[in-house]
Amino acid sequence: MSEFRRLPPISRRALLSGAAGVATLAVASPFRAPAIAQHAPLRVGLMLPYTGTFAKLGKFIDDGFRLRIEQNGGKLGGREVEFVQVDDESKPAAATDNMNRLVGRDKVDVVVGTVHSGVAMAMVKVARDTNTLLIIPNAGANDATGPACAPNIFRTSFSNWQTTYPMGKVMAAAGIKNVVTITWKYTAGAEMIGAFAESFTANGGKIVEDLTLPFPEVEFQALITRIAQLKPDAVFSFFAGGGAVKFVKDYAEAGLNKTIPLYGAGFLTDGTLEAQGAAADGIKTTLHYADNLLNPANVAFLKAFKAKTGNDGDIYAVQGFDAAALLNIGLTAVKGDTHARDRMVAAMAAAKIDSPRGPLSFNKAHNPIQNIYLREVKNGRNEMLSIAQADVDDPARGCKMT
Ligand code: PHB
Repeated sequence: MSEFRRLPPISRRALLSGAAGVATLAVASPFRAPAIAQHAPLRVGLMLPYTGTFAKLGKFIDDGFRLRIEQNGGKLGGREVEFVQVDDESKPAAATDNMNRLVGRDKVDVVVGTVHSGVAMAMVKVARDTNTLLIIPNAGANDATGPACAPNIFRTSFSNWQTTYPMGKVMAAAGIKNVVTITWKYTAGAEMIGAFAESFTANGGKIVEDLTLPFPEVEFQALITRIAQLKPDAVFSFFAGGGAVKFVKDYAEAGLNKTIPLYGAGFLTDGTLEAQGAAADGIKTTLHYADNLLNPANVAFLKAFKAKTGNDGDIYAVQGFDAAALLNIGLTAVKGDTHARDRMVAAMAAAKIDSPRGPLSFNKAHNPIQNIYLREVKNGRNEMLSIAQADVDDPARGCKMT
């Protein structure tokens, strides 16, 4: 193959700000030696949304990932790390090309990404076809650790099923009988609402109506009017990022927070509370994290994240942090030699991580086994009320690990 690779066109990826942007330009040089030596830097592709409704989520995953590496002296498994950063814009249509460029042109050793389930499933396909190591630090698409599971694919976040299934039982036990659901019409929304409905109806509850709007639209008014007409006992929802901020504010502005309690997947109120203000007070959600977990790992993480970024850590930062921890476990087991893939994967699959979220291990499909907490927004924080369900393990339906 020619030593001289065509310089990439100047694009959004090269224009990203900060150190990562510089790293992108540096690795694009045609004079760079191929990374084959044992101690060459590890090339990590970060494919995340840096713009759009999930921009803050991508940024916090990125910050959390880099924080864990910094704590490790800037290395993973003894190797220096260099980054190639891609803004996937949460656009599934661009995902295959973006992933192919990271794998084919940029020759990364591992890809970490992404947030959006539809984008992630396109990445999973390329990862399977090219046997590229992929760590998913957010997207919950059930299929990624279901029918599409593979030895080279890990997730440090959750399956969509996992986060909301425990809430069905919690709401039924609280005497709630009739629920309206509302979400974006795409994989994550459908799967989170589906898992909630599965347990809620099994415990005697009834779904009165499922409301949706296309991702990433935020024109909620007509749907909020419909909720007011239907007068359910409660609403269950999934939105995240900028969309979650607007939905919670619109719901309160319509006065519905006083009459129809709002519940959701924890993404509705994680990393969003500052912007939502009092509109979020009292919202109850389930998630694999809460702001007041007092385990030493969380206390240390929140302090370090604040010192590095000036921001309060959230679930997205934790998932990025744990992605680097998992990668470090795999690479350390093989002394940085990514070619020893089988041993590296075995070490990652067996990992037991003392995560800020609590104990984290992985099932046979490489999806986290973790506690799901019931939280309530109080004083601008997602305070844990109880463990809604301990050690929740996704059923990994359809996964045949080869
Ligand atoms: C997803 O698309 O899987 C997704 C996006 C944002 C979240 C959670 C899940 O906060």
